[in-house]
Amino acid sequence: MSKMRAFVISEPGGPEKLELMEVERPLAKPGWVLIRNRAFGLNRSEWFTRRGDSPSVSFPRVLGIECVGEVVAAMDSDLESGQTVAAIMGGMGRDFDGSYAEYVLVPRDIVFPLQTELELPVLAALPEMLQTVHGSLYTGLEIGRAQNILIRGATSSIGFASIAIAKSAGLEITATTRNLAKADELLAAGAIHVIEDKGSISLQARKLYSPGFDRVLELIGTTTLLDSLQSCRPGGIVCMTGILGGEWVLPEFAPMDAIPTGVKLTSYSGGAMDITQAQLQQYIELVEKGALNIRMGPRFAFTELQQAHALMDENRANGKIVITLDP
Ligand SMILES: NC(=O)c1ccc[n+]([C@@H]2O[C@H](COP(=O)([O-])OP(=O)(O)OC[C@H]3O[C@@H](n4cnc5c(N)ncnc54)[C@H](OP(=O)(O)O)[C@@H]3O)[C@@H](O)[C@H]2O)c1
Repeated sequence: MSKMRAFVISEPGGPEKLELMEVERPLAKPGWVLIRNRAFGLNRSEWFTRRGDSPSVSFPRVLGIECVGEVVAAMDSDLESGQTVAAIMGGMGRDFDGSYAEYVLVPRDIVFPLQTELELPVLAALPEMLQTVHGSLYTGLEIGRAQNILIRGATSSIGFASIAIAKSAGLEITATTRNLAKADELLAAGAIHVIEDKGSISLQARKLYSPGFDRVLELIGTTTLLDSLQSCRPGGIVCMTGILGGEWVLPEFAPMDAIPTGVKLTSYSGGAMDITQAQLQQYIELVEKGALNIRMGPRFAFTELQQAHALMDENRANGKIVITLDP
């Protein structure tokens, strides 16, 4: 049987728990696509899983919920060998082994054939990020009917991509960070206001927009959600997409007190089916043309995966981290 290199995690912990090993290369099977992995973006959810905060993921596991590369084998499928594809989520790196490996075997329905001139490490930053932002902004927040938006946790990769897409949709953007040293980067990305986020910003929000914001994208999560609801105007929408604050559960939730009259609360939990192949292709073409300016984070070689995770530990990426594999 052929071998490949993969980072396997056998128990939760720090970046050193991701161990580079020789493992068996997966074999093609009907309904599944074998992909030669060329590059992949790192995701916060992998970081949570590494730390042992994803109870549904059992170890040992090869993590990694997305990748881009070439089709090696696609039995019973319309895909051709050598075709450029992206694969996103659908249990990848959670229910079955994922993209921290040279080859990945994934179900056909999470594979997106793509045509692009972008180099693969740039392409790799986009699929999961675009799917999440597209789902949050259009399905969750219905931004087509809004003029302004507050993005909490805006220096995250999802935050920067949300700024780019909300800006291209013509919204006025207010961004938050705990670290005002990052304000210039947020302004350069397209925010018109930056707020220092220590957890309670609703008074500042109402100074900027007296009825409250039209839309709030909540990436910090339950630790700031109640304050986000107070920052939104009646008729506005708050969408919880992220949990950067690290807490899944609100310890006390009294809806009549917590949700102001007329404010709508929703969430976006994400899935590959939430964006079509055509929509993803369209976004990628906008990036190619320079019409959608998505901020990229640092790149690492495959063997440097532990360093990349350490950077995520320190919140120093300021954009999507991409791991590249040898051509
Ligand atoms: N629902 C979905 O489908 C979906 C999909 C993808 C990602 N997500 C979620 O979206 C969020 C962003 O993901 P990402 O990969 O873009 O993150 P990321 O780039 O790793 O985010 C890094 C940023 O998070 C902020 N941060 C870290 N810890 C924080 C804390 N305790 N409180 C407030 N801010 C904190 C830091 O901002 P400052 O230091 O500047 O404050 C840092 O710059 C995550 O919660 C992720 O799980 C959801």
